[in-house]
Amino acid sequence: MEEYIVSARKYRPMTFDSVVGQKALTTTLKNAVKSGKLAHAYLFCGPRGVGKTTCARIFAKAINCMNPTAEGEACGECESCKAFAEQRSYNIFELDAASNNSVEHIKSLMEQTRIPPQVGKYKVFIIDEVHMLSSAAFNAFLKTLEEPPAHVIFILATTEKHKILPTILSR
Ligand SMILES: Nc1ncnc2c1ncn2[C@@H]1O[C@H](COP(=O)(O)OP(=O)(O)OP(=O)(O)O)[C@@H](O)[C@H]1O
Ligand SMILES: [Mg+2]
Ligand SMILES: [Zn+2]
Repeated sequence: MEEYIVSARKYRPMTFDSVVGQKALTTTLKNAVKSGKLAHAYLFCGPRGVGKTTCARIFAKAINCMNPTAEGEACGECESCKAFAEQRSYNIFELDAASNNSVEHIKSLMEQTRIPPQVGKYKVFIIDEVHMLSSAAFNAFLKTLEEPPAHVIFILATTEKHKILPTILSR
């Protein structure tokens, strides 16, 4: 499962407030964390390098934080935040579909969605570059997306909204 675990890279913003120029998005996400009103799936679309992957990771960390700030930021200090920072979180999974786009990859990831988290409320699945999934892989993913278990949150990121939206919307 190693390849699914978030690799927090250096020099990436680690908080919503250090993300530049995405105030509307980060405010929405912070409010979701504050209120605890979370959707089952989020889709981040936009051109290369605007911070989709960065925001997905910050959001996943904040969702799982045991003690988020009044602002809706992750505390950075709880067990969950530490596990995320050390890339050993069992509640945050990341698949880079650009390099792992096979149906086997997505199936083994979807198997993980069925197992509830042992600690905390949610398992967060980041599927980056989701437009790169093979069509068989994308269909396997859509099956789970249609009826996600209560403890599952998907964060999808893509530069090609037009390629995936029609399929998702048609479901
Ligand atoms: N809004 C932002 N504020 C601060 N840093 C940013 C922002 N957007 C991107 N960066 C920096 O730029 C780099 C690329 O960001 P990121 O990988 O999140 O972009 P992306 O939208 O996922 O791009 P791609 O479509 O190529 O995957 C990171 O190192 C990140 O720290
Ligand atoms: Mg990215
Ligand atoms: Zn925390």
